[in-house]
Amino acid sequence: MAAKIVPSVLPADLARLGEDCAALDAAGVDRIQWDVMDGRFVPNLTFGADVVAACRPHATCGFEAHLMCERPEHMLSAYVEAGCEVVIVHPEALQQPHRTYGAIRELGVRAGVALSPASGLGAVEHVLDQVDLLLIMTVNPGFGGQAYLPSMEPKIAAARAMIEASGHDIELEVDGGIGPDTIAGAAAAGADVFVSGSALWRYPSYAEGVADLRRRAEAARPARREGPARRSPG
Ligand code: DX5
Repeated sequence: MAAKIVPSVLPADLARLGEDCAALDAAGVDRIQWDVMDGRFVPNLTFGADVVAACRPHATCGFEAHLMCERPEHMLSAYVEAGCEVVIVHPEALQQPHRTYGAIRELGVRAGVALSPASGLGAVEHVLDQVDLLLIMTVNPGFGGQAYLPSMEPKIAAARAMIEASGHDIELEVDGGIGPDTIAGAAAAGADVFVSGSALWRYPSYAEGVADLRRRAEAARPARREGPARRSPG
């Protein structure tokens, strides 16, 4: 599978979100990530489902919701109905993680699990059959523009080994401080999906940024056998 570039719209012009989604789509991004923050699980407060729904018609690429929220179980359907094909939750915020991953799939979309820097792979190793995407946070969740944590690269590598050994088709995504100087380290460690926010917005254009980040990721990724056909949502 080719390296995927997924912009986080946290740095976007919030007064022109729909237009920015259209421009990102035109630039060839693989998906758009909505960093949903509730001001409790993380200090920041961001996008409600209605904002995501309003932007849905402006892009054809997939949307993913990264729910950095306390007890997100009650908001899953809202982000699916808003048009997200992947819903990512933090086990640190859930009462019953295994049940929640199944509930996301029952809504007809793919289940993502995000691990904050201090959270170990043990949180998911016994439930990989319920997981479609594993997100290794390379910053502490809550804000864009933070410095990449290279100390997460051994965890990325261990996650890649765990996924390969499981035989399950699980995307390995990284998020936080991903840019031209850091994407190669994450790719070499085994990531195949890269969320970029502030670094992408620093390029002269979205298209140049997407192309450069994808090229850098592809150049650094180790050759791997292709996984099984991906489970489609629904
Ligand atoms: C942290 C956010 C950020 C964002 C990406 O909670 O999840 O990681 O998506 O922002 P940058 O690329 O600026 O770190």
